[in-house]
Amino acid sequence: QCPPEVKIVDVGPRDGLRSQCPPEVKIVDVGPRDGLQNEKTLVETACKVELIKRLAAAGLKCVEATAFVSPKWVPQMGDHAEVMAALKEKDGVLSGVDLPVLAPNLKGFEGAVAAGAQEVAVFAAATESFSKKNTNCSIAESFDRFLPIMEASKEKNVRVRGYVSVALGCPYEGAVAPQAVTGVIKKLLDMGCYEVSIGDTIGCGTAGGVSDLLDCVEAEGIALDHCAIHFHDTYGQALANILVGLQRGVKVVDSSVAGLGGCPYAKGATGNVATEDVVYMLNGLGVSTGVDLDKLVDAGAFISEKIGRSPASRAASAILAK
Ligand code: HMG
Ligand code: MG
Repeated sequence: QCPPEVKIVDVGPRDGLRSQCPPEVKIVDVGPRDGLQNEKTLVETACKVELIKRLAAAGLKCVEATAFVSPKWVPQMGDHAEVMAALKEKDGVLSGVDLPVLAPNLKGFEGAVAAGAQEVAVFAAATESFSKKNTNCSIAESFDRFLPIMEASKEKNVRVRGYVSVALGCPYEGAVAPQAVTGVIKKLLDMGCYEVSIGDTIGCGTAGGVSDLLDCVEAEGIALDHCAIHFHDTYGQALANILVGLQRGVKVVDSSVAGLGGCPYAKGATGNVATEDVVYMLNGLGVSTGVDLDKLVDAGAFISEKIGRSPASRAASAILAK
């Protein structure tokens, strides 16, 4: 039944880059939280809920929904309980979708759990200055706040994700030593976080810097399987930086639909890398994400229109212009 002769086409060089990337990548869309937290005009709760549902309908399996932080610090997240209440029925489009929320302390954790959260994210910084500006405490104090969260999370069966901010540069202290970053990652994992997302909060990192940092992460014995990457795109380097992460074995990428966002405590920093741009790049690499790019572009257009700006995604702009 087989032919007597078969010509073999060596696709080695073409497949080189693809074979270095994981076959599948999980995207965590942080748009409804990181993307919106910096918006000065309050976005209606119903609009946030609609955005989350549209992201889920586009195939995203993890959407960071809101933040149980102090509304005095971040007014835009003040409707956290209402957002979660509207998402409580996890049937239909939300079935199988994780909806983590930020929790900086036990008060935030308790509020999140009461509102139905099954996953929270604690956030620490790699520099003292950013820790103080963002959460009004030292790095060590932030860990003291996480301890009771970790305890309570076991009891309540709630998953905890960790973040380390300013991993590639700090708006207050400049360059950050990779060892300061790996120290925080290690502590978060040792405490029980299932994964730590490495945040380039001000989007100043470069491919070389990411590579150096990941060298250090691995040298410290931290498995890249337990790390996600969370890159803001201020300097337009995020896609290149993500590619470096993927080549090194990272399989979880945070991004924000329409490239929304910025951090209220990192002046001038722009949004996260746009989810549409990440999906477009991953599609080109043959990496599966389960995300429907057209539906995602529609979700981005929806929220961009609601907040009165054009999507900060090159891929979305190109697709919408067709
Ligand atoms: P504080 O003022 O030091 O807190 O803030 P406190 O414990 O002294 O309490 C003061 C008041 O806040 C009290 O109320 C508390 O009840 C209340 P009062 O008696 O005055 O009426 N409070 C809370 N209310 C609601 N929820 C809470 C809560 N905790 C206390 N959880 C605190 C400390 C951590 C609360 C504050 O600094 C804060 O909320 N910071 C959050 C800042 C933030 O959300 N930043 C953006 C997210 S992080 C980020 O974007 C980076 C990331 O994307 C990764 C990356 O890009 O690198 C994750
Ligand atoms: Mg961020």
